[in-house]
Amino acid sequence: MSNVASALRPGTINKLVLRNRIIKTATNEGMAPGGMPGEKLARFHARLAEEGVGMTTVAYCAVTADGRTFADQMYARPEIVPALHRLTSAVHAAGGAASIQLTHCGQFSRNRALRGRGPLGPAFAINQYGLMSGVPFGYALRESEMIEIADAFARTAVLVRDAGFDAVELHYGHGYLLSQFLSPATNRRRDAYGGGIDGRLRFPIDVLRRVREAVGSDFPILAKTNLLDGFRGGLELEDAIVVARRLEAEGIDAIVLSGGFTSRTPFFLMRGETPLRSMIAVERNPLQRLAMRWFGPRVMRSYPFTEMFFLEQARVVRQAVRVPLVLLGGIVSSENIERAMAEGFDFVAMGRALIADPDFVSRMKRGEPVRTRCIQCNRCVAEMDVAGVRCVLDDPPTPVP
Ligand SMILES: Cc1cc2nc3c(=O)[nH]c(=O)nc-3n(C[C@H](O)[C@H](O)[C@H](O)COP(=O)(O)O)c2cc1C
Repeated sequence: MSNVASALRPGTINKLVLRNRIIKTATNEGMAPGGMPGEKLARFHARLAEEGVGMTTVAYCAVTADGRTFADQMYARPEIVPALHRLTSAVHAAGGAASIQLTHCGQFSRNRALRGRGPLGPAFAINQYGLMSGVPFGYALRESEMIEIADAFARTAVLVRDAGFDAVELHYGHGYLLSQFLSPATNRRRDAYGGGIDGRLRFPIDVLRRVREAVGSDFPILAKTNLLDGFRGGLELEDAIVVARRLEAEGIDAIVLSGGFTSRTPFFLMRGETPLRSMIAVERNPLQRLAMRWFGPRVMRSYPFTEMFFLEQARVVRQAVRVPLVLLGGIVSSENIERAMAEGFDFVAMGRALIADPDFVSRMKRGEPVRTRCIQCNRCVAEMDVAGVRCVLDDPPTPVP
């Protein structure tokens, strides 16, 4: 059987059977005004299911109101359940499965509606991302607060399971809270939750254990992890292997391999052009706009796009664990998918290619060799802050309101 055909065969994550090996990865949709998932979000994911993806991932549901990076992000509470139910029902009606990414931003926050001390993470730090938005510092979590956050992850997993989701994806990457704990650059704690990789893993593993306890052994839990943070002093591949082995030992059901730190190397994870001008154009805060003009070119370094840009590091993790692995990053053609299967990955996840071409899988099923029209201009990133994520090749960029 060709590897393209094998990518179109069912695959399992825990007891969940996906109709094929192609997953739409989480790309913050920007379709939850006021933190409420809307009809547009349901349509976005239903369309992907109608076009044949095995599983679609709803992006970026914060486990608490304080865990939001910005105010318009969906966060867990009973009021969101009916809308999420409509979303999962539409995805199921089209034969797909639905996962949802659970996050806590830690210190990576511009959300001024925070209770108490401000954004909380592993250790005190200047919050460059929130500097111009009145959230200049991040503070160190106390152990009692860490227990509350682990409980919030567990409660949210149960909430979304009850809303019909087939799986949850815990965000261990991209510089959010659990990634801040894993990274030596941000975890400067001197207690049992810091130091070497075993200490830095302690809280992230506590979270997984609490979620597992809450949802039971049969419910699929995925983790999105960093292969590397992408800057000197950050998490490197050697530690990423330890993280993957530990997650496997603790019963994770699949690992999505990514990289990059949104506050420091945002375009390490979305390689291609840096859409700084579009991002400045849609920025509503005038101070932030100014800061982006001055510091943007330095902070938002570009990384040239190459196909399958995490393959080299992901291959090393593939050798180290047996748990299902999901290859991500720059998968743009059916040929790439074929290669991923041949390299021993169980699934592929795709972001921009499926934003540009939601019908990618349908075309593969018709036996065509498929290649996305996405040119990695990354202007979809600016669009998520205007009227919701979409490909600007369809129409010119949305005018800023
Ligand atoms: C518009 C946009 C929004 C994104 N939002 C998220 C997100 O909410 N959570 C996440 O883990 N990754 C997010 N990402 C990163 C993607 O999940 C993925 O890691 C990255 O785009 C590389 O995959 P690709 O080359 O297939 O696009 C986003 C990417 C884009 C383009």
